[in-house]
Amino acid sequence: MDEKVDSFLKVHEVFYPSAETMEKAWIRDYDKAYAESIKDIPGFWERAAHELEWFSTWSQVLKWNYPWAEWFVGATCNITHNCLDRHLKTWRKNKVALIWVGEDDSERIFSYAELYRKVCRCANALKALGIRKGDRVAIYLPKIPEQTVAMLACARIGAIHTVVYSGFSAPALASRIEDSQPRAIITADVGYDRGKVVPLKPVVDEAVAHSPCIEKVVVVRRQKPGITLSSPKEIDWDDWLKEQKALCAPEVMNAEDPLYFLYTSGTTGKPKAVQHVHGGYMVGTYLTTKLVFDLKDEDVYFCVADPGWVTGHSYIVYGPLLNGATILMVEGKPDYPTPGRWWDLIERYGVTIFYTTPTAIRLLMKYGEEWPVKYDLSSLRILGSVGEPINPEAWLWFHRATGGKLPIMDTWWQTETGAILITPLPCTKLKPGSAARPFLGIEADVVDREGKPLPPNTGGFAVIKTPWPSMMRTIYKDPDRYKVYWNTIPGCYTAGDVCRKDEDGYFFFMGRADDVIKVAGNRIGTAEVESALVSHPAVAEAAVIGKPHKTAGEAIKAFIILKQGFKETPEFIDQIKDHVKHELGKIAVPHEVEIVPSLPKTRSGKIMRRVLKAKELGQNPGDISTLED
Ligand code: WTA
Repeated sequence: MDEKVDSFLKVHEVFYPSAETMEKAWIRDYDKAYAESIKDIPGFWERAAHELEWFSTWSQVLKWNYPWAEWFVGATCNITHNCLDRHLKTWRKNKVALIWVGEDDSERIFSYAELYRKVCRCANALKALGIRKGDRVAIYLPKIPEQTVAMLACARIGAIHTVVYSGFSAPALASRIEDSQPRAIITADVGYDRGKVVPLKPVVDEAVAHSPCIEKVVVVRRQKPGITLSSPKEIDWDDWLKEQKALCAPEVMNAEDPLYFLYTSGTTGKPKAVQHVHGGYMVGTYLTTKLVFDLKDEDVYFCVADPGWVTGHSYIVYGPLLNGATILMVEGKPDYPTPGRWWDLIERYGVTIFYTTPTAIRLLMKYGEEWPVKYDLSSLRILGSVGEPINPEAWLWFHRATGGKLPIMDTWWQTETGAILITPLPCTKLKPGSAARPFLGIEADVVDREGKPLPPNTGGFAVIKTPWPSMMRTIYKDPDRYKVYWNTIPGCYTAGDVCRKDEDGYFFFMGRADDVIKVAGNRIGTAEVESALVSHPAVAEAAVIGKPHKTAGEAIKAFIILKQGFKETPEFIDQIKDHVKHELGKIAVPHEVEIVPSLPKTRSGKIMRRVLKAKELGQNPGDISTLED
């Protein structure tokens, strides 16, 4: 990691909340609310926890045995009780929970009562397969309501869901199955992508062939006539649910019992299973959704993420349902069938809260402001951005395109943090390109390698100084990898991001400090792509870097050394790209592949990607005293 990063973003424009925003907001004075929250952090989260229902209460809010945390010690609960049952006792029973719109514009609408019934049927169906508390279930589905139902059904019976993004390839899915050993997998015949049919079942077939742990494959059949299910392991989703009762009591879970594993990329070739729990994660996602988006019962909340990623887990499924919100979930891309797609949906459903990504904003920006002006966007009141730094140009465009008055919540967080940690609230003044300040109850800073706080506008490492309820509890089967987050810089959690704070304490994130690349907000480890590359018979060595890209934020560039006897032909580069696609999936395919005679290495043989990157971008490589050649 190299902390000598120049702070490159200089922003002068400041935006203040409108009277209308202020009047509605849950929190109207951030400074006061923040100061109060950190006077007694456990007390602050305890008050939030009391807004939810528990089967039995805690003896202690936080047990902190550095770096291991337990929140709401001894309490029992079930996150789905608060997502569903809690609302069924109120008028929300018949409120719309989920509006789903498919790529072909088909629409499915679920009230809280209907979602509850579906989840209960699915929970009973899982039980009928013999799946019990603590068992793992893999979910490999496109963005359809069954994905939400399956996640909640697992949680309801205490099974641990592990959702794998449906863009991952068979080997990538198989390696996640191999690690988490699920007993069943829930999938679909196909997904849709810009009008094209994307077969998913064959991917699962290939992965399951290498996964003896999988006893059952449940298939949502979207196509008519339905594909044939051939193996005795396979069951049709509808048949599976049909005979089941629509009542299933939630399993009584300890607050610290695992809710899910979600794989994410780090600095090694093997993705890590981040483990979240029922209690603390519930409190963290509940409160952040409520306060950051200023969520009210009248809102229509549209988050464009995919539940295959953490944003979908926390801010499509759990956070909004915990708040009893009406969620709009949309399958498909922002520019299909036209670049007006999302603006049209906002108009059609009267969306009030719109949470999206910088990559999507930059894509829509390319099509121009003539698209948003065609639609009535006056229902919107709060905007959000997540997943990568939003450049001020894209921020300003988003602001202008939606009418020039709305606050944008640039929310910073990670799979590991479970919930938003650094973010504006609707009442805070905004600076384009800044994620503003820590959320209530969160102590964050920018420090040097030794943990010393840095003066304003100096680039350093973003750290969190005290535990928070939605933090990951461990990396499944790899506690040492968990400890690294808390051991890298003494006394705090190191996020792996480079950042500066301005004189107002506003955080400006500048990207990753480690070997993680963010392509369109998707987290990809250089080591994973490198190991996919060297698994090609012609590739001797490979090094991968992230390069700035106008729309996707970053793009992957690969440098490879060929094995002796192999020659570069015109088709060769495509072959290499296809190979990575097969190993990992489309999102990890390098944008550029360059064949080189050698790679810069340290004397101990480690590839110095930093040197490659500097050369590629025409920058100074910094300290190269360890470079061998
Ligand atoms: C980056 C996504 C700048 C950051 C929720 C972090 C951001 C990584 C922002 C986590 C933001 C996320 N501004 N950078 N608002 N939000 N990031 O686990 O580098 O997929 O460490 O979680 O995304 O990615 P992950």
